[in-house]
Formats: sequence, C-alpha cells, structure tokens
Amino acid sequence: MIEVENLTKHFGTHLAVDHVSFTAQPGEIVGLLGPNGAGKTTTMRMLTGFMPPSDGTARVAGFDVLADSLAVRQSVGYLPEHVPVYPDMTVYGYISFWARLRGVRNVRQHVDAALERVQLTDRRKMLVRHLSKGLTQRLGLAQALVHDPPVIILDEPTIGIDPQQVIEVRDTIRQLGENHTVLFSTHILSEAEQVCDRVVIIQQGRVVAQGAPATLRQQLQSGAHLYVEVRGANEAKIREILNPLRDIQAIEPQGNGFSLRVKPGKDLRAAVAERVMAAGVSLLELRPVAMTLEDIFLDIIKRN
Ligand SMILES: Nc1ncnc2c1ncn2[C@@H]1O[C@H](COP(=O)(O)OP(=O)(O)OP(=O)(O)O)[C@@H](O)[C@H]1O
Ligand SMILES: [Mg+2]
Repeated sequence: MIEVENLTKHFGTHLAVDHVSFTAQPGEIVGLLGPNGAGKTTTMRMLTGFMPPSDGTARVAGFDVLADSLAVRQSVGYLPEHVPVYPDMTVYGYISFWARLRGVRNVRQHVDAALERVQLTDRRKMLVRHLSKGLTQRLGLAQALVHDPPVIILDEPTIGIDPQQVIEVRDTIRQLGENHTVLFSTHILSEAEQVCDRVVIIQQGRVVAQGAPATLRQQLQSGAHLYVEVRGANEAKIREILNPLRDIQAIEPQGNGFSLRVKPGKDLRAAVAERVMAAGVSLLELRPVAMTLEDIFLDIIKRN
C-alpha cells in the first residue's frame, strides 16, 4: 500500500532524505522513528504529494506520487505537523468543509463517523478557536479520516498533548491500523514500540534500521552493558585497568560510575572485578544493565 524506493530529497546542497526505502502493507502500522531533523516530515510530504522527490520513487495505494499526485491525495489522509485550522469555523463545519473538498458523496454520514471516531461528537458546535491543543489535534485526525482513505499518514500526532490525550490518540491509531495502512512519525521510541507492527528508524535522512520492534531489539542489541562503580580511580585510570579486556567495546562515564559495552554473549563480571581489585581500586558496584529499546536507539544514533 505504501512502497518507497530510494526516495531522495535535496534542499539546495542539503540532503534531507537520502535513498530511503521501506514498505507498509494494508492493515499494517509502520512507525517512522527519528530525532529532530531526521527527514520524517520531508518523507511524508513526498508521500502525500505535497512535494516532489528529487530522486527515487514512491507508490501510495498503487499510485505514483509524481505521476498520479491527485489520485495519491485522494487515497491518503494526512495529518501534517502543524494542523492548518480555520478558527471561525465550527468543528462540524470544518470537517464537512474538508469532506466536500475531497468530493465525499454522503457528507453528513462521513463527518459524523469521523467525529465519532476521534470523540468530538459532543463538541460539533464548538468554534475551532476554542479547542484546546489536544482537541485541535483530534480535529486534525478527523480531517485526515473523513474521506475514509485506505492510507493514513500522521506526522507526530501525539506531540504537545497531555498524557491522557496521548493514550487516546494512540488507541485511535491502533484501531485505524485494523483496516488501513498507517504510517506515523514519532521521535518517541516507546510510542513506536507500543503502536507499530514495524519501525523504520531514520537518522540524517537515511534508514539506519527497520523491522518489528522485538526483532529490532534483538538484532541491535550490541552486546550487554555492565555498570561499574569504583572508588580510587578516575576515567583514565579505569580505561587503563580495563583496556586489556578485549571484549569490552566501549567505556563511558555514567552517573557515579561507568557503563561498559560488552561483546554479545560474554560475561565479563568476574574479569572486571578481578582487574579492578588487582589494581588496588575499591569496587563499589558491578551489575549487568538491561538495555531498553530507547538505549539501543540512542546507541544507533550515536554510532551513526
Ligand atoms: N523546505 C525546506 N527547505 C530547506 N531545508 C529544509 C526544508 N524542509 C526541511 N528541511 C531540512 O531538511 C532536514 C529534515 O527536515 P524534516 O523536517 O524532514 O525533519 P523531521 O524528521 O521531520 O524533524 P522534526 O522531528 O524536527 O520534525 C532538516 O535538516 C531541515 O532543516
Ligand atoms: Mg517533522
């Protein structure tokens, strides 16, 4: 339903999206995960026909984004990063305006269904200007859904709203995923993990990893981490003490101690303890650290 191949976007000399490839199948929720400036919005703008790619291709609902831009726009519901609203319209008026703009046949029925879906039915007569940030975001969602498109693209739909609304928006996305192809962007890893069937991690315009959250965690787990805290040795000294242990891939200060990245499958606790004590340094704490997907993500970002 979404097929992206080597999609690329230059802004002058700046390469914002660099040969990005991924797919999203019907009934699948795919998360585009990346830090600020990674190229999430730019990718989505190209997929929604708002901006032509510099290179590569993308097909959405079977239509080429460049050759069939109009058909793409009819097949996609898009919640942009900043929801454009008309403050003097009512909630109902705003959504029915969008429905008519998209050539929806049975406007009233579609608007009612969209408002129901985002739980705005009881606020249908409210002026858009009086909506809170969270409700405005839900209004944007209703706008994206009203023509019942097969593909839904949401740009950071949970940004800037309170935790309760975040939960509701995530629930709505999950429900949408049951019978739509959904692509949504986020920089919150736990959100991608909770909501998505598949995650595409992008960094500086490039895909650095993709897969099901659980698989990703397994693949990317670059080895276990150990936390070690000592008295009587600074960072340079610790490096000197532990340097001969070849299975330690990285040493970084963390809190009052150090985080050691250990080669996968190795248990270095005994070796670390022995070397530290042999150097006459007091060992205060030594424990394995379970990595969350969050840590792994930061790890990838750092390494790239
Ligand atoms: N219209 C534009 N003209 C020039 N540069 C742009 C334009 N739009 C985006 N960029 C640049 O392209 C890069 C990717 O931006 P983009 O907005 O796609 O990132 P993002 O992943 O959506 O980030 P954020 O999480 O902050 O929304 C950034 O370096 C940005 O400054
Ligand atoms: Mg963005």
